[in-house]
Amino acid sequence: MKSIEHPVVDGAEAKRALEAAAASEGMSADQIDIESMVITQNYDRYSDEDHEVWSIIYNKRWAQIETDASDVFLRGIRAINLRPDRVPDLREVNANLARMTGWQSRGVPGYLPAKSFFAFLAKRQFPTTIAVRPKSQMDYLPEPDIIHDVFGHVPLHADPVFADFLQTYGQAALHTDDPHHTERLARLFWFTVEFGLIREDGRLKLYGSGLISSEGEGHHALESPEVDRRPFEMQRVCDTPFEIDHYQPILYVLDSFEQLRDAMNTYAEMLLNQPAASAG
Ligand SMILES: [Fe+2]
Repeated sequence: MKSIEHPVVDGAEAKRALEAAAASEGMSADQIDIESMVITQNYDRYSDEDHEVWSIIYNKRWAQIETDASDVFLRGIRAINLRPDRVPDLREVNANLARMTGWQSRGVPGYLPAKSFFAFLAKRQFPTTIAVRPKSQMDYLPEPDIIHDVFGHVPLHADPVFADFLQTYGQAALHTDDPHHTERLARLFWFTVEFGLIREDGRLKLYGSGLISSEGEGHHALESPEVDRRPFEMQRVCDTPFEIDHYQPILYVLDSFEQLRDAMNTYAEMLLNQPAASAG
């Protein structure tokens, strides 16, 4: 786990949050204290270059997203009032989300252990990095930054159906200790939240954050003849291993977010009704 050093991150606070995150590894669901891992977005400390990097990437991606992103995603961008000219202030994003779905985006210092990440989701809190990538690494940054996390993920949190899905996902993943299901849930997250496609008005559209926030991957997903685009089916998605570090050769296509929410509800009911220590 690595702390991203950036002027908006207070060093002492980030150190405490990272220690809390490290200490949460191995804790049970009811022991995890998500507030201990939250850090402040010291908004006034973003530099002109930070706003410029946000703006350049936002405008570059908008050229495709305007026509190729899911309507639900585009409605979300407007609903949380993301702007092309400056890094979003989480206080403003959260004031808008609070009215619509009750989701909140919370600053964290970097990667969290999986269970802690799920503990945030289970409470309708989305852990987000707050640093902006340097201008020298605009096209590729190995760690997530606020562009991936807020531009890529948060607009969907304004949609009530997706909002319910993501919380249910978090609750199920938090309470499952069965490695078989943990792996299946990781695949589900990958093929939906990170790399999902949806069919709207007879056309394929992007909604996964990895497709929204990456120009190369966003075009590849829709245009490459090499991609195997399969209809979403929960069991099949969960059976499909994924690979990182290159463009995705397999993607799953939703008919609607209701389809995803309903399939997740069924899966979660099965998991949450199992005794915690059951073997799979
Ligand atoms: Fe992501």
